[in-house]
Amino acid sequence: METVVSGIRPTGNLHLGNYFGAVKSFVKMQDEYNCLFFIADWHSLTTRPKPEDIVESTRIILAEYLACGIDHEKATIYMQSDVKETLELYLYFNMNTYLGELERVTTFKEKARKQPDNVNAGLLTYPTLMAADILQHRAVKVPVGKDQEQNMEMARHCARRFNNMYGVEFFPEPQSYYFSDKALKVPGLDGSGKMGKSEGNCIYLRDDAKTITKKVMKAVTDGGPTAQNSEKPEVIQNLFTFLSMVSEKETYDYFDEKWNDCSIRYGDLKKQIAQDIIKYTDPIRERIVEYSANIDLMDKIAKEGAEKAHESAAKTLKEVRQIMGFRELY
Ligand code: TRP
Repeated sequence: METVVSGIRPTGNLHLGNYFGAVKSFVKMQDEYNCLFFIADWHSLTTRPKPEDIVESTRIILAEYLACGIDHEKATIYMQSDVKETLELYLYFNMNTYLGELERVTTFKEKARKQPDNVNAGLLTYPTLMAADILQHRAVKVPVGKDQEQNMEMARHCARRFNNMYGVEFFPEPQSYYFSDKALKVPGLDGSGKMGKSEGNCIYLRDDAKTITKKVMKAVTDGGPTAQNSEKPEVIQNLFTFLSMVSEKETYDYFDEKWNDCSIRYGDLKKQIAQDIIKYTDPIRERIVEYSANIDLMDKIAKEGAEKAHESAAKTLKEVRQIMGFRELY
């Protein structure tokens, strides 16, 4: 069975963009692949989070993953910082990666611009840590967003260079796995193309009914259709995308007809969208609340995940040490 690895930085709650863009597909993948989903808490250190925030935010993501249907019996869910083998591989990859290569990564350049007073080595070596995350499990598929392509190129580089240096065929070259053709791109409600944390236009899975309604009712619209059967401008198409995600087909068709004969009332449309988002996310929200309150269970699941991930990584590192000429430790 092919191995899939994906990490998420614990920078806040999951929103509908995360859900329809990735997490929903993870739930499907866990039946078809050997999946390891981890919470990239080490990666979050590039921005110096407070210890209590780390505890809180990692637990939240774990609860949200479980609430969305990621099953810790099928997939391995773990905290990055629980598997120390990652660091050993990170060191080896750092030794084989040139400064120039790392400096050319656009996400590094962007981050350096954003936090000029904290351009630390961790920021620079973000891609080699990510490569270690992936290759410690010898994963072949990595579900990521398009913005991660350069990091993925670096991961393939690390694999290839290691293989070449030691004349082995040890690491597979991991491929990016885009959901975009299978999953829905969730638009923003503010007229911007995409729902995202940095865009500040998110509906979070844990938002309550009132918050969701307020956000949806504020969605940007236009003056209304002026001719029958006209093409929908982007902001209106965005609203219909929401309908297609969370509403019944009849509801979609109803509003589509109203659009086509120019009798659509955006207020009604938004009310319907809000109502259907609430209906869709309600059970997820309930489970989030349940899981987050059960700290013992969260810790137990994280610990079990860490053990499984450790086992997988230790196996790889044992062979890596042998290949490189280091003594066998255990
Ligand atoms: N860099 C990824 C992001 O920002 C998170 C991440 C870290 C990751 N390590 C990974 C994703 C390994 C996939 C595989 O989204």
